Amino acid sequence: MNIRAIAAIDKKRGLANEHGIPWKLPGDIAYVREKTQGGAVIMGYGTYTELTKPLVGRRSFVFYDGMEPLREGFEAVTDLVEFMKNPPDNLWLFGGAGLFAQTIQYANELYLTQLKEDFECTKFFPEYRDDFELSWESDLQRENEVRYTFQIWKRKD
Ligand SMILES: NC(=O)c1ccc[n+]([C@@H]2O[C@H](COP(=O)([O-])OP(=O)(O)OC[C@H]3O[C@@H](n4cnc5c(N)ncnc54)[C@H](OP(=O)(O)O)[C@@H]3O)[C@@H](O)[C@H]2O)c1
Repeated sequence: MNIRAIAAIDKKRGLANEHGIPWKLPGDIAYVREKTQGGAVIMGYGTYTELTKPLVGRRSFVFYDGMEPLREGFEAVTDLVEFMKNPPDNLWLFGGAGLFAQTIQYANELYLTQLKEDFECTKFFPEYRDDFELSWESDLQRENEVRYTFQIWKRKD
């Protein structure tokens, strides 16, 4: 079973600040759409609140306490351990920081968009370098004055 995390992180593993993601990278958005297309994503409630609609062409699971109903097109997950015992095919861990902290243990691969700058984030991707090794990296991309590469990290044996 292949479970992958996908995220864009700055040079300090930053994911977001209190207002959301502090960069605008259409190339990264397109990359994420292409990679996750046809699969399923699981996100935390904080990320859910920032989405105006479910992701097109992907089942959108939301891990939360189930206290209020989700908007149409989103599917509730209230027991993460049970969900991970029998996850849907082609599941992507989608963020944010809270969700990644609770699920990185299940990931075999990390698809990281690695930004070169520090965006002074307040929410972070978990430490991963002890458990994963870099297996592929793209050429340097430049967009909106941001430099970044796409990377794939695989869990060490
Ligand atoms: N850079 C990237 O690739 C990337 C990817 C995905 C998301 N993001 C960003 O990450 C940020 C969100 O990260 P996050 O760690 O705050 O949240 P999250 O991981 O998406 O969701 C978990 C958080 O939701 C909150 N929450 C609020 N109401 C809840 C409820 N009813 N049940 C359960 N949890 C509830 C909890 O925060 P409390 O414990 O504080 O209540 C919990 O820590 C957003 O700004 C998003 O844009 C970035």
